[in-house]
Amino acid sequence: MNVTKRTFDAVIVGAGGAGLRAALQLSEAGMRTAVLSKVFPTRSHTVAAQGGVAASLGNSTEDNWHWHMYDTVKGSDWLGDQDAIEFMCRKANEVVIELEHFGMPFDRTDNGKIYQRPFGGHSQNYGQSPVMRSCAAADRTGHAMLHALYQRNVRANTQFFVEWMALDLIRNSAGDILGVTAMEMETGEISIFHSRATVFATGGAGRIYYSSTNAFINTGDGVGIAARAGIPLEDMEFWQFHPTGVAGAGVLITEGVRGEGGILRNAAGERFMERYAPNLKDLASRDVVSRSMVTEINEGRGCGPDKDHVMLDITHLSPETIMKRLPGIREIAIQFAGVDPIKAPIPVVPTCHYQMGGIPTNYKGQVVVPKDGNPNSPVQGFYAAGECACASVHGANRLGTNSLLDLLVFGKSSGETVVADFKSGSLTLKDLPADAAEASLARIARLDGQKGGEGVHDVRLAMQRTMQKHAGVFRFADLLKEGVSKMAEIADRSKRTEIGDKSKVWNTARIEALELDNLIEVAQATIVSAEARKESRGAHVRDDAPDTAQRPNGRDDQNWLKHTLWYSQGNRLDYKPVNLKPMSPDVESIALAKRTY
Ligand code: FUM
Repeated sequence: MNVTKRTFDAVIVGAGGAGLRAALQLSEAGMRTAVLSKVFPTRSHTVAAQGGVAASLGNSTEDNWHWHMYDTVKGSDWLGDQDAIEFMCRKANEVVIELEHFGMPFDRTDNGKIYQRPFGGHSQNYGQSPVMRSCAAADRTGHAMLHALYQRNVRANTQFFVEWMALDLIRNSAGDILGVTAMEMETGEISIFHSRATVFATGGAGRIYYSSTNAFINTGDGVGIAARAGIPLEDMEFWQFHPTGVAGAGVLITEGVRGEGGILRNAAGERFMERYAPNLKDLASRDVVSRSMVTEINEGRGCGPDKDHVMLDITHLSPETIMKRLPGIREIAIQFAGVDPIKAPIPVVPTCHYQMGGIPTNYKGQVVVPKDGNPNSPVQGFYAAGECACASVHGANRLGTNSLLDLLVFGKSSGETVVADFKSGSLTLKDLPADAAEASLARIARLDGQKGGEGVHDVRLAMQRTMQKHAGVFRFADLLKEGVSKMAEIADRSKRTEIGDKSKVWNTARIEALELDNLIEVAQATIVSAEARKESRGAHVRDDAPDTAQRPNGRDDQNWLKHTLWYSQGNRLDYKPVNLKPMSPDVESIALAKRTY
């Protein structure tokens, strides 16, 4: 197969919020920057973010970054690195105001400031009462953000390669990253993108689960590619289940609905969150709300003929508020649940939403791996930001609206690091190895030559059902163990998938098979890491690690206050310390405590 070669100063994979924010930094600094995306940039999954972006602007209620940092560390169940969390919370106001200046159409308060609404786990005065911290453009914040960033990149002459899928990293014998191989989805053309810097911003992999708020494109491409190239994956056992996916459809209903006053009710009409989180109630952090909902359902208080969901009620809000602040939600409820939320509550159920783990990075966006005794040694030429990266600011559980903040802050900081490295002369264009495209060509040759294998759809479905059953909202020791062996079998099956007669099938069949390779890496990392972590923390709650006086919330800080690292090669685990020290010497570490809301 003919392989073309293209050379750039930097190649960015992914054109969602993180990729576009990084690209802007590079293009504005005059670097020749290519952005590869499987879809047109403004269709990237950031477009689906609804409720807002966190920043302690204090436009409607008093706020400051110390409170934001406290909430984020507590939300992470102390698994987040406090240097990166301080960095993100301190930078929040700057990146949001910058976005406003890029033309982002935020909603406004009566006095013209950016509109802010409350969100789960965000509080005033270290957990005392809810705070209005989420900066919103109605319930279409991601959509507005993506358009503002895309337009800014067009102005900066960023070069887009639309409908191109990255296949594999190119690494030399020293372990440096020299670019990627990629496929043009329409033609099947394979190209080497040779570059000084490679930035991954490929988003999440929520499609490893059967029920997900994630787009079909969210197949963990960057994460899978990095794993195949020998980069460990960090904290992959931690997955967020958003409390309010439309029951039966999985489509996201923003937490902003509860921020605007929405209430969760069980079959008896009871506001059950009062029992689980007496202080913040429906606005407790997501892992807490999702578990409370599943407990209600499991104990027979669910709604509907199968008692398999609960209700999100906003019928007490005025139609004007709903039309002004939540217009998209009303549309989604009408189309996917058949109810008008002005008149009737929406049936909802926890649905896979976000991966807290990913490619290990530091707060500068450099990809870091253990090397020569340093657990966080930067990989030359490799950077990552957004959901595919683990900075780690979300730890074991992310707070709502910290995702859009993460991609702005770390998209920008990774861009700044690349520019600084470029200007200092430390980013050179290294010689490509002779076998630069070999791994990708072998994968494609395997697919094109495979006869008599299984269909991609069947293997993907087996993976999704296994993950849903064996690594869901609540986790069980026996199911996790069984899940590990099931996933190993499924991974084996994925090596024998068949795409059919290539003269008759669309290239999309090949793309789906290549995506499955990435999903499988993520699913294996998740189940193996989850089985091994013998405690409950954040979104990872095990039946054999209950809440006791010695182990608050089921957490075992003595043995498990550490980050997991999973290596694809050998399907093996390693661990590294959590950074409990903030970045600045004058900022106090947030001390370990029991998590209550
Ligand atoms: O509920 C939401 O609007 C989702 C926000 C988020 O995941 O940060």
